[in-house]
Amino acid sequence: MSVFLLPTLEPVINRVLDALGGAKFKLDVEVQNRKIDRLYTMAKRDQWNLDDNREHFFPPDRGGIDLNEWLGVDDDVRIAAARCFSSFYYGEHGAKVISAQLVNLMPTNESSKFMATQVMDEARHVEVFEGILGFIDRIHPMNPFLNAFLGDISRVRHTGSKLIGMNLLVEGLALSSFRMILREMRAGANVSPRGYRAIGEPIESIIRDESRHVGFGVVILPELLHKIPRRIKAEMRIRQLAWLGLLYGSVKYHQEDQEKMGLDYVQLLSDVIDDHEKRIQDCGGDALVSTERMKSLVPTMDRIVDRFRRKER
Ligand SMILES: [Fe+2]
Ligand SMILES: [Fe+2]
Repeated sequence: MSVFLLPTLEPVINRVLDALGGAKFKLDVEVQNRKIDRLYTMAKRDQWNLDDNREHFFPPDRGGIDLNEWLGVDDDVRIAAARCFSSFYYGEHGAKVISAQLVNLMPTNESSKFMATQVMDEARHVEVFEGILGFIDRIHPMNPFLNAFLGDISRVRHTGSKLIGMNLLVEGLALSSFRMILREMRAGANVSPRGYRAIGEPIESIIRDESRHVGFGVVILPELLHKIPRRIKAEMRIRQLAWLGLLYGSVKYHQEDQEKMGLDYVQLLSDVIDDHEKRIQDCGGDALVSTERMKSLVPTMDRIVDRFRRKER
């Protein structure tokens, strides 16, 4: 084959490699979107290391510590909290895996570099929940609705869909849940400053990272969604509806645990939905499904989750 043929074959070869899941190695070094480049700079600047504060959060010598007194709870509430926090732990694992997939799907150099920082952030978040759960109880089995939700986002091949699932829905759920936990801990007269240090302070660090991840989704999605054909957009909307149903199921699954902890799961869902609605407006894309549609799924999801929980008992 003549060497002159190679440049003409290159786009074809790249398309074949992309179809096979090959990496996009030849991204333009010129910055395409300054906002994303700024987010990448912030992400590098704001890296933190749990090891620097591990003993400050989780004292290694547990002798003499009355954990229930620190947290202002009894055993029942502490174990309910560990079940809810186990879902955060698995959610962070899922976020790490899915953002690693997205590194390879990003269309520009700066967005791929940003996504690489998100992978590291999520690895740190997994580490934080390993620490919290080891301190207050243990890691409990995975919530099946969360498993289905994360599993489908990890399987979907379309970049726009994966980003909506990861950086709007998963991140949005994490942000709203963490904010609610912190609000309740700060308002709870029974939580001691030492108890807040073990759970509240590490979660504060996570919230700063998650806000950046959501911000990235809102900046990059309008551009990506603009180029998507109508047929794909219709598929994306149907998929999101299923995801919103699973998201609802994964919160409702912990209803009893949340009630023991004094958290209002309806309020949490309403926060997630309101925030998602605002982000949809910010993205302005017609490939996004309005959360209004999700409300029609609520009675069905209630029945499914309740039946599932009854079988588990
Ligand atoms: Fe995270
Ligand atoms: Fe995140």
